[in-house]
Amino acid sequence: MGSEVTESSVASAEAPKAAGAALAAVPRHVAIIMDGNGRWAKRRFLPRIEGHRNGAKSVRMVVEECRRLGIRYLTLFAFSTENWRRPQDEVGGLMSLFVQHLESELGLLLKNGIRLRAMGDTSRLPASVREMLARNEERTKDMTGMDLILAVSYGGRDELVQAARKLAEAARAGEVDPAAISGESFARHLYLPDVPDPDLMIRTSDETRISNFLLWQLAYAEIVVSPVLWPDFSRDEFHRCLNVFAGRNRRFGLTQEQVHGA
Ligand code: IPE
Ligand code: IPE
Ligand code: MG
Repeated sequence: MGSEVTESSVASAEAPKAAGAALAAVPRHVAIIMDGNGRWAKRRFLPRIEGHRNGAKSVRMVVEECRRLGIRYLTLFAFSTENWRRPQDEVGGLMSLFVQHLESELGLLLKNGIRLRAMGDTSRLPASVREMLARNEERTKDMTGMDLILAVSYGGRDELVQAARKLAEAARAGEVDPAAISGESFARHLYLPDVPDPDLMIRTSDETRISNFLLWQLAYAEIVVSPVLWPDFSRDEFHRCLNVFAGRNRRFGLTQEQVHGA
């Protein structure tokens, strides 16, 4: 019952109520903090950008594997609002890699029926990245196999602040009664309101922080930490994480007896 989603989810999409036993353990939405690229490079006496470059094959693997397993949403944390403060050459190198991969992987997205969506403050990105993201979003907008969400220039606090701002403006305009604001109506002002909350959040490289990722949406996500550095994150390790998730007991604030109807 690992992937069961209860009424406590504020996401608008409904969970399949009677998923078969074999499918019940497959999360509907997996979110990943792809961490450890710098350490991977450092261990090899390589520049940090080589770690980022080598992370690309792990991205391809998880995308293909999620599509194959029927995981409907995959969110990848590629660049945080805090990452803008890294050395300029690393930021520039990452931006070039984004352009390069968005360019080269469009075919893979189309072939596999995957819709690409960006999430974050894209106005801060260089025009080349913004345009490539917009091109891929437009070209894949009718794909229904899976949503691949790239969190770029993304910060959870930024997302909550912009939602609060939109609601405050609507209240000032008399369109919203502040007393009527609910969790559900608040969530409608997040970046991608139609996307259900992640069931499973994986972070690689043994770090146990959230680092400003999906602060609202992770409320009831199962967190699995992998010791593996992102460029070494393999299919086997991904499956291990999925199996850990499948063995978890999600209670959403209820008692064990309530969840299992005992
Ligand atoms: C994650 O790897 C990628 C980004 C944050 C862009 P890091 O670059 O954070 O790698 P470490 O944590 O320094 O090893
Ligand atoms: C989080 O990793 C951001 C991404 C993976 C894109 P960081 O490496 O930036 O996080 P901290 O600094 O270790 O918390
Ligand atoms: Mg890191």
